[in-house]
Amino acid sequence: MLLPTSSSTAVVVVFWFASVLICCFPRVLHARVGYGYSLSSLKELPDGGGLLGYLQIKTSTTTYGSDVPNLKLFVKHESGDRLRIHITDADKERWEVPYDLLPREKVPGAGTGREQNHHEYTGGSGTRLVFGYTNDPFGFSVRRKSDGEVLFNSSSSSSSSGDLFGPMVFKDQYLEISTTLPASAALYGLGENTQPGGIRIRPNDPYTLYTNDVSAIKLNTDLYGSHPFYMDVRKIGGEGASAHGVLLLNSNGMDVFYRGDSLTYKIIGGVFDFYFFAGTTPLEVVDQYTTLIGRPAAMPYWAFGFHQCRWGYKNLSVVEAVVEGYRQAKIPLDVIWNDDDHMIAHRDFTLNPVNYPRPKLLEFLTKIHALGMKYIVINDPGIAVDPNYDVYRRAMEQDIFIKHDGKPYLAQVWPGPVYFPDFLNPRSASWWIDEIERFHRLVPIDGLWIDMNEASNFCTGDCKLPTTHSCPIPGNEKPWICCLDCKNITNTRWDDPPYKINVSGIGAPLGYKTIATSAEHYNGILEYNAHSIYGLSEAVVTHRALQGLKGKRPFVLTRSTFVGSGKYAAHWTGDNQGDWKNLRYSISTMLNYGMFGMPMVGSDICGFYPQPTEELCNRWIQLGAFYPFSRDHANFHSPRQELYVWNTVAESARNALGLRYKLLPYLYTLNYDAHVSGAPLARPVFFSFPNFTKGYELTTQFLLGESIMVSPVLKKQSTVVKVLFPPGSWYNMFDMTKVVLPKDDRYITLDAPWNEINVHLYQNTIIPMQEGGLRSKDARKTPFTIVVAFPLKAETAEAVGKVFVDDDESTEMELADGKSTLVVFRASLDGGKVRVWSDVKMGAFAREKGFIIGTVRVLGLESTGISNAVEIKIDGEVSKDIENVRFVSSGLAETTKLEGDTKKRVTVVDVTGLGLPLGKKFSMTWQMGVQ
Ligand code: NOJ
Repeated sequence: MLLPTSSSTAVVVVFWFASVLICCFPRVLHARVGYGYSLSSLKELPDGGGLLGYLQIKTSTTTYGSDVPNLKLFVKHESGDRLRIHITDADKERWEVPYDLLPREKVPGAGTGREQNHHEYTGGSGTRLVFGYTNDPFGFSVRRKSDGEVLFNSSSSSSSSGDLFGPMVFKDQYLEISTTLPASAALYGLGENTQPGGIRIRPNDPYTLYTNDVSAIKLNTDLYGSHPFYMDVRKIGGEGASAHGVLLLNSNGMDVFYRGDSLTYKIIGGVFDFYFFAGTTPLEVVDQYTTLIGRPAAMPYWAFGFHQCRWGYKNLSVVEAVVEGYRQAKIPLDVIWNDDDHMIAHRDFTLNPVNYPRPKLLEFLTKIHALGMKYIVINDPGIAVDPNYDVYRRAMEQDIFIKHDGKPYLAQVWPGPVYFPDFLNPRSASWWIDEIERFHRLVPIDGLWIDMNEASNFCTGDCKLPTTHSCPIPGNEKPWICCLDCKNITNTRWDDPPYKINVSGIGAPLGYKTIATSAEHYNGILEYNAHSIYGLSEAVVTHRALQGLKGKRPFVLTRSTFVGSGKYAAHWTGDNQGDWKNLRYSISTMLNYGMFGMPMVGSDICGFYPQPTEELCNRWIQLGAFYPFSRDHANFHSPRQELYVWNTVAESARNALGLRYKLLPYLYTLNYDAHVSGAPLARPVFFSFPNFTKGYELTTQFLLGESIMVSPVLKKQSTVVKVLFPPGSWYNMFDMTKVVLPKDDRYITLDAPWNEINVHLYQNTIIPMQEGGLRSKDARKTPFTIVVAFPLKAETAEAVGKVFVDDDESTEMELADGKSTLVVFRASLDGGKVRVWSDVKMGAFAREKGFIIGTVRVLGLESTGISNAVEIKIDGEVSKDIENVRFVSSGLAETTKLEGDTKKRVTVVDVTGLGLPLGKKFSMTWQMGVQ
């Protein structure tokens, strides 16, 4: 969080801000920081081992330090879809994202092979990308074979108005590389960053990647996570759109400049480690990306329920009252959270015996656990410095804290003076896991929330315990003001590097309100290099600890993230504000995280900082009910904002969360898809409609999965919403007799009364729904309704969808006999003949659990008359048990329920009273009669 600064840090900021203005901003793209390299040799390694080459500096410069004279180039098609280009110092090992933290192929030290001088490297017939290069100055390009499109070209380039960018630069603390881009390319990604302009990256917006505790309220600023990945979507010629992805795997701080026709990285260390993903659909890009960085963590079923949290639940009675408040208001609630209120003096792994007496807490947990509810608490990495605190003592014994000048680095967070565990130290893992186990024996938590792990520090520089006052200052109303005695560190090249990235959006020093960058981790690793992977390293170990606890699927929520964090944790978008702008911004950050391979994401519903109005909170729960991770959380300064506090909000919550709980099997199936293919749960509209170019900027609405469109009200005092629909039939999920049929690609104005959000289902889709409930555990047991959406009044049509079920929280989420079932639903329509059927994979699990399909609902049929001669087969045998089967059709009234432009009547046909076992193949056919 960006909190008021102390006067000493304010001075530092002003100083740095001034120095950044003077030193860096005028030196944008056109200044000659380097003259590039020439390629001296290039060999093709045997057995598809890639290319290995050497580069030599042409002319040295001293700006930002001297150039690294000799570079080693390694190029490899690591798979048909993925090309890696790695450039590092040929003479000395350099810092790279640790291979044990982010497992991936190693780069060969040396090798022999054939001389390569074709200026192109295809890597064989199975590859989709081509590496091209120029020798002098060295530059490289990446081209897609299928359409010849050049995706990246680093050769220095000029336009009529001068140089677009200069050649590649490689210094110890400054690396620069650029690519040309067609102006039509639509770029997404590069975070974490609150983007007021929506998901599409805008030319000249600043992008600094360096993890920081800067509130999400701050726009275009380096926030809690660092993700140097972008997706590029282009319409090529008259052809359809194609997408590809680019990852620059580097954990050092960087500024990225996008100018519309070029993109430049300016990085303060590490290596160039580029990965290009061939695409060509957006989903294929995330699939290819998460193949490399790790698939998103499987989330337990209950995690898709609603979560309530607040910083300031002073005692257990308040928490109990909140759970009771939800029960009485009949608003779904699965998970209740504690911020640090349950702790003693904000110390991790402690339980306050006065406010949270253990016997009472255990009683409460037994009660809620019996209902299927869960309990999660917060945990910060800073460990209070106090020899009488066992957690600290054990950590000191293990010697696992990050050090500065040979001593643990002293910082300040909520508990006062703290040291930070070094999660890169293997001993830290066993210590942390042990502490979590101990705490779990004290309090049987169901998940952990790891916060403040950028790492956040209320002080800056080299600090000592004060001699003149106590720290924390007792009763201090502003505990975030630094109370240690600190001096800024400017005498090392790590604390004061030659090139200054735009830290915190104010050009602050790298160590500003975090760990000094000259501090050291295990094996002498510099904080300078490892800063942005702190949150990832903590998430890895926390995930491991929870997995070991009960052999169940862990749930970890982390604030700080890096490439690969999605494999271990969910993310929330940090400290936002209860205002209309922040409601809107939450969509772009959520969609970006889907592309970063971290799809379990959401924002603090109703806002973290004070204070939402009833109207805002009402609209926020309507949107938040469809965040993949749906949690209401607020700061203690905010008035209470649980969903039952206001009647209108409660009403909206019952509606929107009511639908969410009916859609839990759909969300959980998306969770499975994410886990096996990286597919985001919440997606930009272009993911399903890449040729619908009007959708490229669209950030006011989004898709859940392939075909559910969520279109929230984002404006004050509005009871309509303007929605852009790609062509086709879109059925209203709350009243399926209503349909939108966009005539062209203009916005359609839809009613959005106070308690309603617009959620639509696209044609050609089948989705699994259940009956909902107040807890996911109960909703889970209800019969399924399979909803088939055909295009409205089509003569012939097809639809497809699926459902995945397993035991909801075993560690592995996979299709395995006896452990899970995947059912693919299909439907066809031909001349009034309707056929709906399923293909079942590993049906035993669903059969054993007794999952039943009670209703098949079909949308879009022209005729309302139905021949009752339905034939139902189960496992190929004609079912005799059809006495209870009824056809119900609605939407027959002359009052049309059309929300689009064209007036037509809409029929909903329900085949109900079914008792089809989900785990058995079924088929059903009937003929629609003439009206
Ligand atoms: C900062 C987090 O972003 C916020 O969600 C939390 O409530 C506070 N830390 C207190 O733990």
